[in-house]
Amino acid sequence: MNQLFTSIRIGSMTLKNRFLRSATFEGLAGPGGEVTEKLAALMAELARGRAGLIVTGNAYVRGDGRTRPTQMAIDRDELLPGLARMAEAAHREGGAIAVQIAHSGCYSDPVDGSTPLGLSNLSFGKIPACRELTGQDASELASAFARAAVRARAAGFDAVQLHAAHGYLLSQALSPYYNRRTDAYGGPIENRMKLPLEVYRAVRSAVGGDYPVLIKINSRDYLEPGLTPEETALVCRTLQDEGLDLAELSGGTMASDPKFSPIRAGRCDTPGREAWFRVDAAAIKASLAIPVALVGGVRAPQTAKALIEEGAADLIALSRPLIREPGLIARWESGDLRPAACLSDNLCMAEARSGRGLRCMREGEKTS
Ligand SMILES: Cc1cc2nc3c(=O)[nH]c(=O)nc-3n(C[C@H](O)[C@H](O)[C@H](O)COP(=O)(O)O)c2cc1C
Repeated sequence: MNQLFTSIRIGSMTLKNRFLRSATFEGLAGPGGEVTEKLAALMAELARGRAGLIVTGNAYVRGDGRTRPTQMAIDRDELLPGLARMAEAAHREGGAIAVQIAHSGCYSDPVDGSTPLGLSNLSFGKIPACRELTGQDASELASAFARAAVRARAAGFDAVQLHAAHGYLLSQALSPYYNRRTDAYGGPIENRMKLPLEVYRAVRSAVGGDYPVLIKINSRDYLEPGLTPEETALVCRTLQDEGLDLAELSGGTMASDPKFSPIRAGRCDTPGREAWFRVDAAAIKASLAIPVALVGGVRAPQTAKALIEEGAADLIALSRPLIREPGLIARWESGDLRPAACLSDNLCMAEARSGRGLRCMREGEKTS
Protein backbone atom coordinates (compact mmCIF):
# COMPACT_ATOMS: atom_id res chain seq x y z
CA MET A 1 0.00 0.00 0.00
CA ASN A 2 3.07 2.22 0.28
CA GLN A 3 2.53 3.65 -3.15
CA LEU A 4 -0.75 5.20 -2.01
CA PHE A 5 1.10 7.05 0.70
CA THR A 6 3.85 8.58 -1.40
CA SER A 7 3.82 12.30 -2.06
CA ILE A 8 2.93 13.83 -5.41
CA ARG A 9 3.42 17.24 -6.93
CA ILE A 10 0.42 19.01 -8.44
CA GLY A 11 1.88 22.09 -10.08
CA SER A 12 3.49 24.11 -7.30
CA MET A 13 1.79 22.10 -4.53
CA THR A 14 3.06 18.87 -2.95
CA LEU A 15 0.50 16.47 -1.51
CA LYS A 16 1.40 13.95 1.17
CA ASN A 17 -0.48 11.03 -0.36
CA ARG A 18 -2.60 9.95 -3.33
CA PHE A 19 -6.04 10.53 -1.83
CA LEU A 20 -8.31 13.39 -2.74
CA ARG A 21 -11.57 14.15 -1.01
CA SER A 22 -13.77 14.74 -4.02
CA ALA A 23 -15.99 17.83 -3.90
CA THR A 24 -19.07 17.06 -1.82
CA PHE A 25 -21.91 19.55 -1.37
CA GLU A 26 -22.28 19.81 2.39
CA GLY A 27 -25.47 21.89 2.73
CA LEU A 28 -23.88 23.48 5.79
CA ALA A 29 -23.39 27.10 4.66
CA GLY A 30 -25.24 30.09 6.05
CA PRO A 31 -28.20 31.73 4.27
CA GLY A 32 -25.89 33.88 2.11
CA GLY A 33 -23.48 31.02 1.40
CA GLU A 34 -21.26 31.94 4.36
CA VAL A 35 -18.84 29.40 5.80
CA THR A 36 -20.19 28.20 9.15
CA GLU A 37 -18.35 26.71 12.11
CA LYS A 38 -19.71 23.27 11.13
CA LEU A 39 -18.30 23.60 7.64
CA ALA A 40 -14.87 24.64 8.90
CA ALA A 41 -14.93 21.83 11.48
CA LEU A 42 -15.68 19.28 8.76
CA MET A 43 -12.59 20.41 6.82
CA ALA A 44 -10.49 20.06 9.96
CA GLU A 45 -11.86 16.54 10.49
CA LEU A 46 -11.07 15.52 6.90
CA ALA A 47 -7.54 16.91 7.26
CA ARG A 48 -7.07 14.98 10.53
CA GLY A 49 -8.25 11.91 8.63
CA ARG A 50 -5.24 12.37 6.29
CA ALA A 51 -6.95 13.25 2.98
CA GLY A 52 -4.02 14.37 0.79
CA LEU A 53 -6.13 17.12 -0.78
CA ILE A 54 -9.58 18.18 0.35
CA VAL A 55 -11.81 19.71 -2.29
CA THR A 56 -14.73 21.63 -0.77
CA GLY A 57 -18.29 21.21 -1.99
CA ASN A 58 -19.16 23.32 -5.01
CA ALA A 59 -19.12 27.03 -4.23
CA TYR A 60 -21.10 29.34 -6.50
CA VAL A 61 -19.17 32.04 -8.30
CA ARG A 62 -22.28 34.13 -8.96
CA GLY A 63 -25.70 34.25 -7.35
CA ASP A 64 -27.44 33.03 -10.51
CA GLY A 65 -25.36 29.85 -10.40
CA ARG A 66 -26.42 28.72 -6.92
CA THR A 67 -27.90 25.23 -6.79
CA ARG A 68 -29.76 25.67 -3.52
CA PRO A 69 -29.73 27.62 -0.25
CA THR A 70 -27.13 26.24 2.19
CA GLN A 71 -24.62 25.95 -0.67
CA MET A 72 -21.31 27.62 0.00
CA ALA A 73 -20.61 30.84 -1.95
CA ILE A 74 -17.45 32.52 -3.19
CA ASP A 75 -19.14 35.34 -5.10
CA ARG A 76 -18.47 38.28 -2.75
CA ASP A 77 -15.44 39.72 -0.98
CA GLU A 78 -17.36 39.94 2.29
CA LEU A 79 -17.17 36.12 2.46
CA LEU A 80 -13.37 36.20 2.71
CA PRO A 81 -13.02 35.99 6.52
CA GLY A 82 -15.17 32.83 6.65
CA LEU A 83 -13.38 31.29 3.69
CA ALA A 84 -10.05 32.04 5.37
CA ARG A 85 -11.28 30.30 8.57
CA MET A 86 -12.13 27.25 6.48
CA ALA A 87 -8.72 27.08 4.80
CA GLU A 88 -7.04 27.65 8.15
CA ALA A 89 -9.07 24.84 9.77
CA ALA A 90 -7.63 22.36 7.25
CA HIS A 91 -4.12 23.77 7.44
CA ARG A 92 -4.03 23.62 11.23
CA GLU A 93 -4.50 19.86 10.94
CA GLY A 94 -1.76 19.54 8.32
CA GLY A 95 -4.15 19.31 5.35
CA ALA A 96 -4.21 20.88 1.89
CA ILE A 97 -7.48 22.29 0.63
CA ALA A 98 -8.92 23.47 -2.70
CA VAL A 99 -12.25 25.18 -3.38
CA GLN A 100 -14.45 23.83 -6.14
CA ILE A 101 -15.77 26.86 -8.04
CA ALA A 102 -18.99 26.31 -9.90
CA HIS A 103 -22.01 27.61 -11.74
CA SER A 104 -24.94 25.24 -11.98
CA GLY A 105 -26.25 26.52 -15.32
CA CYS A 106 -29.80 25.38 -16.06
CA TYR A 107 -29.91 23.50 -12.73
CA SER A 108 -29.46 26.72 -10.75
CA ASP A 109 -31.84 28.18 -8.20
CA PRO A 110 -30.71 31.81 -8.67
CA VAL A 111 -30.50 33.91 -5.54
CA ASP A 112 -32.54 36.67 -7.21
CA GLY A 113 -35.21 34.35 -8.60
CA SER A 114 -34.16 35.01 -12.21
CA THR A 115 -34.41 32.40 -14.97
CA PRO A 116 -31.36 30.12 -14.87
CA LEU A 117 -28.67 30.53 -17.51
CA GLY A 118 -27.85 27.63 -19.81
CA LEU A 119 -26.33 26.74 -23.14
CA SER A 120 -29.53 25.78 -24.97
CA ASN A 121 -33.12 26.18 -23.89
CA LEU A 122 -34.30 22.61 -24.17
CA SER A 123 -37.64 21.23 -23.22
CA PHE A 124 -36.94 17.52 -22.99
CA GLY A 125 -35.75 14.97 -20.46
CA LYS A 126 -34.59 16.23 -17.09
CA ILE A 127 -33.41 19.59 -18.41
CA PRO A 128 -35.09 22.69 -16.97
CA ALA A 129 -35.90 25.70 -19.14
CA CYS A 130 -33.20 28.36 -19.21
CA ARG A 131 -32.08 31.62 -20.73
CA GLU A 132 -29.50 30.96 -23.45
CA LEU A 133 -26.00 32.28 -22.88
CA THR A 134 -24.83 35.22 -25.01
CA GLY A 135 -21.25 36.16 -25.85
CA GLN A 136 -21.46 38.88 -23.19
CA ASP A 137 -22.70 36.33 -20.63
CA ALA A 138 -19.66 34.18 -21.46
CA SER A 139 -17.18 36.95 -20.78
CA GLU A 140 -18.99 38.03 -17.59
CA LEU A 141 -19.00 34.44 -16.40
CA ALA A 142 -15.30 34.05 -17.09
CA SER A 143 -14.71 37.17 -14.96
CA ALA A 144 -16.93 35.79 -12.18
CA PHE A 145 -14.91 32.55 -12.10
CA ALA A 146 -11.67 34.56 -12.15
CA ARG A 147 -12.77 36.77 -9.24
CA ALA A 148 -13.80 33.68 -7.30
CA ALA A 149 -10.38 32.11 -7.90
CA VAL A 150 -8.66 35.27 -6.68
CA ARG A 151 -10.81 35.13 -3.51
CA ALA A 152 -9.81 31.49 -3.00
CA ARG A 153 -6.15 32.38 -3.22
CA ALA A 154 -6.58 35.41 -0.96
CA ALA A 155 -8.38 33.27 1.64
CA GLY A 156 -5.42 30.89 1.76
CA PHE A 157 -6.77 27.90 -0.19
CA ASP A 158 -4.04 25.84 -1.85
CA ALA A 159 -5.82 25.50 -5.20
CA VAL A 160 -9.08 25.94 -7.10
CA GLN A 161 -10.97 23.32 -9.01
CA LEU A 162 -13.28 24.25 -11.90
CA HIS A 163 -16.45 22.15 -11.81
CA ALA A 164 -16.90 21.01 -15.39
CA ALA A 165 -18.56 17.65 -14.65
CA HIS A 166 -22.01 16.14 -14.02
CA GLY A 167 -24.12 18.47 -16.19
CA TYR A 168 -23.43 21.78 -14.45
CA LEU A 169 -22.74 24.85 -16.60
CA LEU A 170 -19.25 24.07 -17.94
CA SER A 171 -20.26 20.44 -18.44
CA GLN A 172 -23.40 21.61 -20.27
CA ALA A 173 -21.12 23.58 -22.60
CA LEU A 174 -18.99 20.49 -23.35
CA SER A 175 -21.94 18.14 -23.80
CA PRO A 176 -23.61 17.87 -27.21
CA TYR A 177 -26.73 16.71 -25.35
CA TYR A 178 -27.17 19.95 -23.42
CA ASN A 179 -25.44 22.17 -25.96
CA ARG A 180 -27.43 22.27 -29.22
CA ARG A 181 -26.08 25.61 -30.36
CA THR A 182 -25.11 26.39 -33.92
CA ASP A 183 -22.93 29.42 -33.09
CA ALA A 184 -19.26 29.57 -32.02
CA TYR A 185 -20.13 27.81 -28.68
CA GLY A 186 -21.81 24.76 -30.26
CA GLY A 187 -21.12 21.96 -32.72
CA PRO A 188 -17.68 20.31 -32.77
CA ILE A 189 -15.76 19.87 -29.51
CA GLU A 190 -13.44 22.72 -30.52
CA ASN A 191 -16.49 25.02 -30.23
CA ARG A 192 -18.07 23.30 -27.22
CA MET A 193 -14.86 23.78 -25.25
CA LYS A 194 -14.87 27.53 -25.96
CA LEU A 195 -16.69 28.51 -22.74
CA PRO A 196 -14.62 26.26 -20.41
CA LEU A 197 -11.46 27.49 -22.14
CA GLU A 198 -12.47 31.15 -21.74
CA VAL A 199 -13.22 30.49 -18.08
CA TYR A 200 -9.93 28.64 -17.57
CA ARG A 201 -7.93 31.41 -19.29
CA ALA A 202 -9.57 34.12 -17.17
CA VAL A 203 -8.87 32.14 -13.99
CA ARG A 204 -5.28 31.38 -14.96
CA SER A 205 -4.49 34.94 -15.88
CA ALA A 206 -6.08 36.20 -12.64
CA VAL A 207 -4.25 33.83 -10.27
CA GLY A 208 -0.93 33.63 -12.14
CA GLY A 209 1.06 30.70 -13.46
CA ASP A 210 2.09 29.32 -10.07
CA TYR A 211 -1.26 28.82 -8.41
CA PRO A 212 -2.68 25.30 -8.88
CA VAL A 213 -5.79 25.21 -11.06
CA LEU A 214 -7.56 21.85 -11.34
CA ILE A 215 -10.62 20.68 -13.23
CA LYS A 216 -13.26 18.02 -12.55
CA ILE A 217 -14.58 16.78 -15.87
CA ASN A 218 -16.60 13.89 -17.21
CA SER A 219 -14.71 11.08 -18.87
CA ARG A 220 -17.99 10.54 -20.72
CA ASP A 221 -21.57 11.74 -20.30
CA TYR A 222 -23.44 8.45 -20.81
CA LEU A 223 -25.86 10.40 -23.00
CA GLU A 224 -26.71 10.20 -26.67
CA PRO A 225 -25.21 12.39 -27.99
CA GLY A 226 -22.73 12.91 -25.18
CA LEU A 227 -19.18 13.98 -24.45
CA THR A 228 -16.81 11.12 -25.35
CA PRO A 229 -13.49 10.09 -23.75
CA GLU A 230 -11.65 11.15 -26.92
CA GLU A 231 -13.20 14.62 -26.63
CA THR A 232 -12.39 14.81 -22.92
CA ALA A 233 -8.78 13.93 -23.71
CA LEU A 234 -8.65 16.75 -26.25
CA VAL A 235 -10.11 19.26 -23.77
CA CYS A 236 -7.64 18.19 -21.07
CA ARG A 237 -4.68 18.36 -23.47
CA THR A 238 -5.71 21.84 -24.57
CA LEU A 239 -5.96 22.99 -20.95
CA GLN A 240 -2.72 21.21 -20.06
CA ASP A 241 -0.95 23.19 -22.78
CA GLU A 242 -2.20 26.31 -21.03
CA GLY A 243 -1.00 25.26 -17.59
CA LEU A 244 -3.79 23.12 -16.08
CA ASP A 245 -2.35 21.25 -13.08
CA LEU A 246 -4.66 18.26 -12.61
CA ALA A 247 -7.72 16.63 -14.19
CA GLU A 248 -10.14 14.72 -11.97
CA LEU A 249 -12.16 12.34 -14.11
CA SER A 250 -15.78 11.53 -13.33
CA GLY A 251 -18.72 10.63 -15.57
CA GLY A 252 -22.48 10.89 -16.09
CA THR A 253 -24.87 13.81 -15.70
CA MET A 254 -28.20 14.59 -14.08
CA ALA A 255 -29.85 13.71 -17.40
CA SER A 256 -28.10 10.33 -17.76
CA ASP A 257 -29.85 7.07 -16.93
CA PRO A 258 -29.60 6.64 -13.11
CA LYS A 259 -27.50 3.52 -13.75
CA PHE A 260 -24.89 5.94 -15.11
CA SER A 261 -25.39 8.76 -12.63
CA PRO A 262 -22.23 10.48 -11.34
CA ILE A 263 -23.31 9.19 -7.91
CA ARG A 264 -24.41 5.63 -8.64
CA ALA A 265 -26.52 4.00 -5.95
CA GLY A 266 -25.75 0.42 -4.91
CA ARG A 267 -22.93 -1.39 -3.15
CA CYS A 268 -19.49 -1.22 -4.75
CA ASP A 269 -18.44 -4.38 -2.93
CA THR A 270 -16.53 -6.27 -5.60
CA PRO A 271 -13.66 -5.02 -7.77
CA GLY A 272 -15.97 -5.23 -10.82
CA ARG A 273 -18.43 -2.81 -9.22
CA GLU A 274 -15.77 -0.30 -8.22
CA ALA A 275 -14.04 2.50 -10.14
CA TRP A 276 -16.69 2.93 -12.81
CA PHE A 277 -14.56 5.11 -15.07
CA ARG A 278 -11.27 3.21 -14.87
CA VAL A 279 -11.10 2.13 -18.52
CA ASP A 280 -11.87 5.59 -19.90
CA ALA A 281 -9.58 7.21 -17.34
CA ALA A 282 -6.65 5.01 -18.40
CA ALA A 283 -7.18 6.00 -22.03
CA ILE A 284 -7.45 9.71 -21.20
CA LYS A 285 -4.50 9.63 -18.84
CA ALA A 286 -2.35 7.95 -21.50
CA SER A 287 -2.62 11.07 -23.62
CA LEU A 288 -1.76 13.51 -20.80
CA ALA A 289 1.39 14.56 -19.00
CA ILE A 290 -0.33 16.16 -15.97
CA PRO A 291 -1.55 14.10 -13.00
CA VAL A 292 -5.00 12.56 -13.18
CA ALA A 293 -7.36 11.76 -10.31
CA LEU A 294 -10.15 9.21 -10.66
CA VAL A 295 -13.42 9.38 -8.73
CA GLY A 296 -16.45 7.12 -8.63
CA GLY A 297 -17.08 4.00 -6.61
CA VAL A 298 -13.61 3.25 -5.22
CA ARG A 299 -14.04 1.46 -1.88
CA ALA A 300 -11.09 -0.91 -1.29
CA PRO A 301 -7.48 0.21 -0.80
CA GLN A 302 -6.40 -2.74 -2.96
CA THR A 303 -8.47 -1.28 -5.82
CA ALA A 304 -6.97 2.16 -5.24
CA LYS A 305 -3.49 0.67 -5.43
CA ALA A 306 -4.32 -1.32 -8.58
CA LEU A 307 -5.69 1.81 -10.29
CA ILE A 308 -2.39 3.57 -9.76
CA GLU A 309 -0.38 0.52 -10.81
CA GLU A 310 -2.38 -0.03 -13.99
CA GLY A 311 -2.00 3.63 -14.97
CA ALA A 312 -5.65 4.63 -14.67
CA ALA A 313 -4.86 7.44 -12.22
CA ASP A 314 -2.21 9.13 -10.11
CA LEU A 315 -4.64 10.01 -7.34
CA ILE A 316 -7.80 8.36 -6.04
CA ALA A 317 -10.75 10.58 -5.23
CA LEU A 318 -13.42 9.61 -2.72
CA SER A 319 -16.66 11.29 -1.72
CA ARG A 320 -19.22 9.11 0.07
CA PRO A 321 -16.68 6.89 1.86
CA LEU A 322 -15.39 10.00 3.65
CA ILE A 323 -18.89 11.03 4.69
CA ARG A 324 -19.27 7.83 6.66
CA GLU A 325 -15.62 7.66 7.73
CA PRO A 326 -13.79 11.00 7.63
CA GLY A 327 -10.81 9.13 9.11
CA LEU A 328 -10.77 6.42 6.42
CA ILE A 329 -7.42 7.32 4.89
CA ALA A 330 -5.72 7.41 8.28
CA ARG A 331 -7.29 3.99 8.96
CA TRP A 332 -5.85 2.55 5.76
CA GLU A 333 -2.50 4.19 6.44
CA SER A 334 -2.42 2.56 9.86
CA GLY A 335 -2.71 -0.85 8.20
CA ASP A 336 -6.44 -1.53 8.70
CA LEU A 337 -7.18 -2.35 5.06
CA ARG A 338 -10.86 -3.24 5.33
CA PRO A 339 -12.78 -1.50 2.54
CA ALA A 340 -14.75 1.67 3.15
CA ALA A 341 -17.88 1.01 5.18
CA CYS A 342 -19.96 3.22 2.84
CA LEU A 343 -23.03 1.43 1.46
CA SER A 344 -23.51 3.91 -1.42
CA ASP A 345 -27.20 4.17 -0.57
CA ASN A 346 -27.20 7.93 -1.27
CA LEU A 347 -29.21 8.73 1.85
CA CYS A 348 -26.46 11.28 2.61
CA MET A 349 -27.35 13.17 -0.54
CA ALA A 350 -31.00 13.57 0.49
CA GLU A 351 -29.84 14.69 3.93
CA ALA A 352 -27.41 17.28 2.53
CA ARG A 353 -30.18 18.65 0.30
CA SER A 354 -32.79 18.68 3.05
CA GLY A 355 -31.30 21.73 4.73
CA ARG A 356 -30.15 19.64 7.72
CA GLY A 357 -26.65 19.22 6.32
CA LEU A 358 -24.43 16.39 5.17
CA ARG A 359 -24.13 13.28 7.29
CA CYS A 360 -24.12 9.53 6.90
CA MET A 361 -27.50 8.11 7.87
CA ARG A 362 -25.79 4.86 8.94
CA GLU A 363 -23.92 6.58 11.74
CA GLY A 364 -23.73 4.34 14.75
CA GLU A 365 -24.27 1.17 12.71
CA LYS A 366 -21.51 -1.38 12.84
CA THR A 367 -19.02 -0.66 10.09
CA SER A 368 -17.82 -4.17 9.32
C1 LIG B 1 -23.79 14.40 -0.91
C2 LIG B 1 -22.97 14.53 -2.16
C3 LIG B 1 -22.65 15.79 -2.64
C4 LIG B 1 -21.87 15.94 -3.80
N1 LIG B 1 -21.50 17.20 -4.20
C5 LIG B 1 -20.64 17.35 -5.24
C6 LIG B 1 -20.13 18.63 -5.57
O1 LIG B 1 -20.41 19.63 -4.93
N2 LIG B 1 -19.28 18.71 -6.64
C7 LIG B 1 -18.91 17.60 -7.37
O2 LIG B 1 -18.12 17.72 -8.30
N3 LIG B 1 -19.37 16.38 -7.05
C8 LIG B 1 -20.21 16.23 -6.01
N4 LIG B 1 -20.62 14.97 -5.64
C9 LIG B 1 -20.12 13.80 -6.39
C10 LIG B 1 -18.87 13.21 -5.74
O3 LIG B 1 -17.80 14.12 -5.67
C11 LIG B 1 -18.39 11.95 -6.51
O4 LIG B 1 -18.06 12.34 -7.83
C12 LIG B 1 -19.43 10.83 -6.53
O5 LIG B 1 -20.11 10.74 -5.29
C13 LIG B 1 -18.80 9.46 -6.82
O6 LIG B 1 -17.77 9.17 -5.90
P1 LIG B 1 -17.97 8.20 -4.62
O7 LIG B 1 -18.44 6.88 -5.15
O8 LIG B 1 -16.61 8.15 -4.00
O9 LIG B 1 -19.00 8.82 -3.75
C14 LIG B 1 -21.41 14.79 -4.50
C15 LIG B 1 -21.73 13.53 -4.00
C16 LIG B 1 -22.50 13.39 -2.85
C17 LIG B 1 -22.80 12.01 -2.33
